[in-house]
Amino acid sequence: MAEVIDGKLIAEDVVGKVKLATAELVSETGVVPGLAVVIVGEDPASQVYVASKGRKAEDCGFHSVQHTLDAATSEDELVALVESLNADPAIHGILVQLPLPKHVDAARIIQTISPDKDVDGFHFINVGKLGTGEVETAFVPCTPAGAMIMIERVHGRDLSGLNAVVVGRSNIVGKPMANLLLAANATVTIAHSRTKDLPALGRTADILVAAVGRPQMVKGDWVKPGATVIDVGINRIPAPEKGEGKTRLVGDVDYVEAAKVAGAITPVPGGVGPMTIAMLMANTLKSAYRAAG
Ligand code: GUN
Repeated sequence: MAEVIDGKLIAEDVVGKVKLATAELVSETGVVPGLAVVIVGEDPASQVYVASKGRKAEDCGFHSVQHTLDAATSEDELVALVESLNADPAIHGILVQLPLPKHVDAARIIQTISPDKDVDGFHFINVGKLGTGEVETAFVPCTPAGAMIMIERVHGRDLSGLNAVVVGRSNIVGKPMANLLLAANATVTIAHSRTKDLPALGRTADILVAAVGRPQMVKGDWVKPGATVIDVGINRIPAPEKGEGKTRLVGDVDYVEAAKVAGAITPVPGGVGPMTIAMLMANTLKSAYRAAG
């Protein structure tokens, strides 16, 4: 059976370090890291994520503000809010929760966020830095950054000679994940819905990252024996065994099957999810350190 990579434990380790460094920054410079989270509308899943980001920020000793806007908020109003946060010296990180309502051009909002406060790493400047290997000065998107730390715990920092397959090509996870793996010297393939014979390609991977948003799509026979499997998916599926109308969370990997073959695997929940929030805290701290000079 595969080793379980415990995201909760590794995230606690990261957050513990953030807390210590925050206390040091505050005592030496008086700068308190500030995180602003903006949510538009009432998507219940987004509300849960945003609330946990705010709680974690407070737990780290940050100044934490949340702007909850009506679903009918106009694009121009949202731009004005982001610009005011850009200009606010108490704020070092700005996160606009996605998805945004359809009448808002999400790309325009993301590009309005100052690249220096873009703790999501979605601004073109940060995307470009990551794409050109400037990993140290970029803000790296939180989910792939968290996944990378989990991979490091198994393989170390240098992935020379290892084949990595990333299933999924989103801007939030798949593409930045591929760039991070490449920066760590892995040989990287990005697979997606138009890829021929995904199971055979999966079996070439020493590191297999699933980020497709389809429950339990990656089966045991996609996994090379001994491979490291990173499951980025968080999907809610019906769980009639728990009672009528009940649901449970599963990843993009069929965990029971894959765990029989893999060398190491991340669970869902308790895998990549907690790492995402931990990396948001780490990015906000990094921004505050820069602002403090
Ligand atoms: N919605 C789902 N994941 C994310 C994320 O990492 N950042 C933002 N801003 N919105 C999201």
